[in-house]
Amino acid sequence: MTMNCRLAIFASGNGSNFEALAKACIDGRINATVALCVCDHPGAYVTERAKKLNIPVLELRQKSFPSKKEYEKAILDELRKENVDFICLAGYMRIVGDVLLNAYVDRIVNIHPSLLPAFPGIDAIGQALKYGVKVFGVTVHYVDHTLDGGKIISQVAIPYEGNSREELEPMVHAHEHPLYIETVAKLVNNL
Ligand code: GRF
Repeated sequence: MTMNCRLAIFASGNGSNFEALAKACIDGRINATVALCVCDHPGAYVTERAKKLNIPVLELRQKSFPSKKEYEKAILDELRKENVDFICLAGYMRIVGDVLLNAYVDRIVNIHPSLLPAFPGIDAIGQALKYGVKVFGVTVHYVDHTLDGGKIISQVAIPYEGNSREELEPMVHAHEHPLYIETVAKLVNNL
């Protein structure tokens, strides 16, 4: 078991999963420290959440770099400086490339608001509603070079027969935080 595993959390927007994981690390439910918040949308709300929790933030735009490779190399430099050994994606709206995948083999995970492999990609909840599914859900999975396609680690099913996004969305998000915390807690204990 790695003592005091150092996590980086990557996010692009709101950051409620970021905050849930960070608080779980702070109060000891996850045996880890959040060493860095990586945000590809400077000024996104997640950066405020991180600052309130005194977590260092790396804000950078991919388009400021000549290529995805250079962008990820810049991130990797910071991850190494911070001795990061595990990465959680939490609403990070990009496909992870080889630079990071090769540096963190089986050490990058993501949370997605559907029962994968159904409904990968953007607006999974909307896709599932449109399809008329009766069981929604959340998945935590390893990250590979595909869109929401890596090996599944944990899932929770959310039966719902209605068709109201307003009703469903908070139900799905309420299931995300405990599942992500419980899953990451187990993973970091087995590094
Ligand atoms: C969540 O629904 C997560 O499953 C997906 O992106 C959303 C991020 O929400 N990958 P938040 O920024 O953590 O509030």
